[in-house]
Amino acid sequence: MLMIRRKIVFIALTVSVMFACGGRQKAENDIEVKIDGLLSNMTLQEKIGQMNQLTGLGLSADMIHNVKNGRVGSILNELDPKTINELQRIAVEESRLGIPLIFARDVIHGFKTIFPIPLGQAATWNPQIVENGARVAATEATAVGIRWTFAPMIDVTRDPRWGRIAESCGEDPYLTAVMGAAMIKGFQGNDLADPGSMAACAKHFAGYGASESGKDYNTTWIPELQLREVYLPSFEKAVEAGAATFMCSFNDINGVPSSGNAYLNKTILRDEWHFDGVLVSDWGSIEQMISHGVAADLKQAADLAANAAVDMDMMGFAYINHLEALVQEGNVSESAIDRAVRDILRLKFRLGLFDNPYVEIREEMPFYTAEALAKAKQAAVESAVLLKNKDGLLPLGEGIKSVAVVGPLSDAPGDQVGTWCFDAEFEHSVTPLTAIRDAYGENIGINAEQGLTYSRDKNELGIEKAVTAARKSDVVLFFAGEEAVLSGEARCRADIRLPGAQTEMLKALKKTGKPIVLVIMSGRPLAIGEETEDADAVLLAFHGGTMAGPALADLIFGKAVPSGKLPVTIPKMAGQIPVYYAHKNTGRPGRNVSLIDDIPVGAAQTSLGFTGYHLDAGNDPLFPFGYGLSYTDFDYSEVRLSQNALSTGQTLTVECTVTNTGKYDADEAVQLYIRDRVASLARPVRELKGFQKIYLKAGESQTVTFTLTEDDLAYWHADMVKRAERGEFQVWISTDSQSGTPATFVYN
Ligand code: GLC
Repeated sequence: MLMIRRKIVFIALTVSVMFACGGRQKAENDIEVKIDGLLSNMTLQEKIGQMNQLTGLGLSADMIHNVKNGRVGSILNELDPKTINELQRIAVEESRLGIPLIFARDVIHGFKTIFPIPLGQAATWNPQIVENGARVAATEATAVGIRWTFAPMIDVTRDPRWGRIAESCGEDPYLTAVMGAAMIKGFQGNDLADPGSMAACAKHFAGYGASESGKDYNTTWIPELQLREVYLPSFEKAVEAGAATFMCSFNDINGVPSSGNAYLNKTILRDEWHFDGVLVSDWGSIEQMISHGVAADLKQAADLAANAAVDMDMMGFAYINHLEALVQEGNVSESAIDRAVRDILRLKFRLGLFDNPYVEIREEMPFYTAEALAKAKQAAVESAVLLKNKDGLLPLGEGIKSVAVVGPLSDAPGDQVGTWCFDAEFEHSVTPLTAIRDAYGENIGINAEQGLTYSRDKNELGIEKAVTAARKSDVVLFFAGEEAVLSGEARCRADIRLPGAQTEMLKALKKTGKPIVLVIMSGRPLAIGEETEDADAVLLAFHGGTMAGPALADLIFGKAVPSGKLPVTIPKMAGQIPVYYAHKNTGRPGRNVSLIDDIPVGAAQTSLGFTGYHLDAGNDPLFPFGYGLSYTDFDYSEVRLSQNALSTGQTLTVECTVTNTGKYDADEAVQLYIRDRVASLARPVRELKGFQKIYLKAGESQTVTFTLTEDDLAYWHADMVKRAERGEFQVWISTDSQSGTPATFVYN
């Protein structure tokens, strides 16, 4: 009887899934039919109007004219729900065809409740946390009428000089792909037509993170093999995750700006990956092809972009001013226009805007809810990376009767939220000083003195007050780092040390002999080698968002245990850049390092050996990708394999037993890496292929299991085909990208 019941359930489930898929396909087919109907009825001018995106001008006469005459398809940066509804009413009720507008905004890591910057969210190695944050952002932003966010930014980068590393998920294609997919899921939810969902935008397509010298908007030289292996995987995963839109990048790749790159936007994005969403330019990036020197004027720029399948022109005024003539002159086919407009209309149908174009005007906005703040705090807790903890200084114990809370980031509500937070209200930020006072002010003495009033402050006069506060305290909590303005778009630094006189302040504090906890709140990894030496404990907290303060208070006083792991390598100095874990071994990997200060005077040129490293930095970074300490310790058993050989179509199970050998219950991001020992092309010394974040009570053990298939072993060959190559592979399950003992198997 049980078997019969199970069979009935299985059949019912199968039928319902089939119906669901069939239903989705039918809905998609219905949309295409509706688009056909609209397209056949649109003038060329109306089609071109859909391809035009303008920034909000309220209810200006210009904007009303454009909307009423079908000269704009989307508006960004309009945030007043009543204005949005009035513009939408004009579009729907007063334009000839009544096509609704899409309202867009950069909601990168929160709208009102701000989560850690994406680089910090990547440090959680917890996709659920990231999805939660995106969902909160969608709930808050859609409440004002925003239905399209320009996120996730999934540009892989290995250059902390680049200001936009703050918006990225770091240096690794796999981690970036997983985190980007999680954000897309959070923004778009299960139903894009739900008024609480907004279209995601995978950006910036592509190769932006390779900007030369870490200078924004700079040129990139990227061989296609590297483009395929490093910079495209996160975008391909974004298509698989259902990203509704993509955005072009500002940079040129090997001389071809992305906004005019047909190979990128048509051959790869549409033909290979079958993306059927909207590709929008970046702000003026079509027009900027004139500056790039590939377009003589705006008309030629429009020609290049339209023939490179860029659907929508964000604030470039190229399409609206020149596409009609280009079509009439035969330089741009009307079928290319139709294809672009079809993508735009499809997005509007998928968002449900034809059926439900207006935003509900609410008396009370769903901002800063207790649930949202709790999720933001948890994200900030899990994004903090413990880099040093000498003699177990952290968490501060019962014996601590007073703390000095010092540093320019100790009470900086606008800076702790980081870059790309135009809609944040800083009065809602809870700073470390506020949080420590609120939570511990009754039990311990708190001596607060910023010492420096902002991160670039070079006026050392205030440092003495901080030193005095330190002398009166058992422990110094030094909140250092960067103002928000020092990272983000066009905010690049050639020198990635702590700005201002923060290093000098730390040295002055160290002279007091008090133990020092250094908390770095920044938009990028900073070269803090000297400071790491001077401090007793170091927490890299990134810009942790609205709830950075309570999160850090819990971590410092032991209500929470750090579990963050670096999503990006921390260099000793900028001169090491690019420095990243998935490097090639080279013919002479750095070893037998002779550091510059150790070289005997008069040493013969041939006396130091000949391997690859910097005399003044050695061969290793300050901290490697995947690194992060805990208050507890984790023991990793040897790696166990289900078999020693893997053949086509098989899976290989890789497992390891992880034990919490310390005294704190804690999370651990367990990482899986492989290395292809011998291949037609030199392969990285390690490549991340999986991770699992587990929770272990003190003393508890858990077997962590991964499966590998030949797809995991595949790489792009010189003939531009991705495939696995027979031979020996090493595999690690480890706590970071440098530790652990590998097991070996053969792919045959
Ligand atoms: C900016 C950024 C892009 C953003 C867009 C709209 O220049 O490059 O990431 O989404 O303009 O603000």
